Amino acid sequence: MNIFDYNNGVLHAESVSAVDIAAQYGTPCYVYSRKAFEQHYLAYENALQGRDHLVCYAMKANSNLAVLNVLAKLGAGFDIVSIGELERVIAAGGDPKKVVFSGVGKKAHEIRRALEVGVHCFNIESEAELDRVNDVAAEMNMQAPISIRVNPDVDAQTHPYISTGLKENKFGVDIDDAPRIYAKANAMSNLNVQGIDCHIGSQLIETAPFMDALDRVLALVDILAEQGITIHHLDLGGGLGVTYDDEVPPTPGEYIAELTERLGDRQLKLIFEPGRSIAANAGIFLTQVEFLKSNEEKNFAIIDGAMNDLIRPALYSAWQAIVPVVQHADRNPENTKAWDLVGPVCETGDFLGKDRQLNLQPGDLLAVKSSGAYGFVMASNYNSRPRPAEVMVDGDTSYIVRARETIADLYAGEQLLPSE
Ligand code: LLP
Repeated sequence: MNIFDYNNGVLHAESVSAVDIAAQYGTPCYVYSRKAFEQHYLAYENALQGRDHLVCYAMKANSNLAVLNVLAKLGAGFDIVSIGELERVIAAGGDPKKVVFSGVGKKAHEIRRALEVGVHCFNIESEAELDRVNDVAAEMNMQAPISIRVNPDVDAQTHPYISTGLKENKFGVDIDDAPRIYAKANAMSNLNVQGIDCHIGSQLIETAPFMDALDRVLALVDILAEQGITIHHLDLGGGLGVTYDDEVPPTPGEYIAELTERLGDRQLKLIFEPGRSIAANAGIFLTQVEFLKSNEEKNFAIIDGAMNDLIRPALYSAWQAIVPVVQHADRNPENTKAWDLVGPVCETGDFLGKDRQLNLQPGDLLAVKSSGAYGFVMASNYNSRPRPAEVMVDGDTSYIVRARETIADLYAGEQLLPSE
């Protein structure tokens, strides 16, 4: 059974009706399924049984404390990119010793805090950062465990959708330059070289680019071994795609089986940083139709969710399925037509979907599917709109896991100038 599915014509999250959720918490809101988060995480865990491994959920995809807590209870590690994310892991009961710290611009205070709580590894993205981590570790009289993120320059001709693993991207160091940088790191007294890190992009729906990258990383492992540098782990990043429309990405099981076959009998610990493949299809975004309006060219459904709540369609022209919460069997199918689903924000780019065939009436509830990743976390207060509520369903019960922001929240922390 799908976790978000119809029961008697009403969309449910696990066993809870989306109509009831909208009535109880209001719209717009995000709705997550605990079971989906668990299943998607366990797909990685199960595929890695019998191997030394760590699955570090890339929490930038969805960093709600309840989500992190559900995964922490299963023993998950976390991939973080800021001190804010580290403090969230700790607040959610996650283990900082299972944290990998990625990102191109770590500040000294962030490095200090990460060393203090004993993160598993720093993924270093430049030589300058190597110096900074070494300096902070030296001040603290500690050894910082590090990997260097290499940029394998995976062939863009054959895989044009890859955007972070190319030379023109800001991420990592050139893989051809890595032996020299590793030698430098190895000679620094407060760094402890542990692994190699690589993340080539997001929403990949084939395994070939991952395998190309792995081959290049393994060649580097061998070069480093000749230099007397032993690599203990490979962090292969995240990036596995999900089905938004009709894509058929490999499952984590298929992806990992192909990887481990290529690894042969190398005894390297494997670290993964999946975000989207755990979170995207564990959430939906619920919104209500306010008004319908049509002109000669277009039919617009004005909904109460907007680009500030869910920016992927506006920012990346991303396509996410939009379905009615109630399948009204009594409606005349001749009234089905193409609608642009637009929000109340004052921008032409404020849409969640275009040309969607729907049979709509004002007051209808709609669900934007696959919204569990890069949804709420990218929401803003643009147009002074309070950010939406987040709800998690667990079996037949729903819980509010982040209250809808209030109007007072909007300008908490702001101040007038002193009066003259
Ligand atoms: N590790 C690193 C170093 C990353 O930069 C990312 C994502 C991940 C792991 C997780 O990748 P995933 O498994 O989620 O593909 N906001 C965009 C996606 C940005 C991804 C950024 N980095 C979107 O909504 O499509």
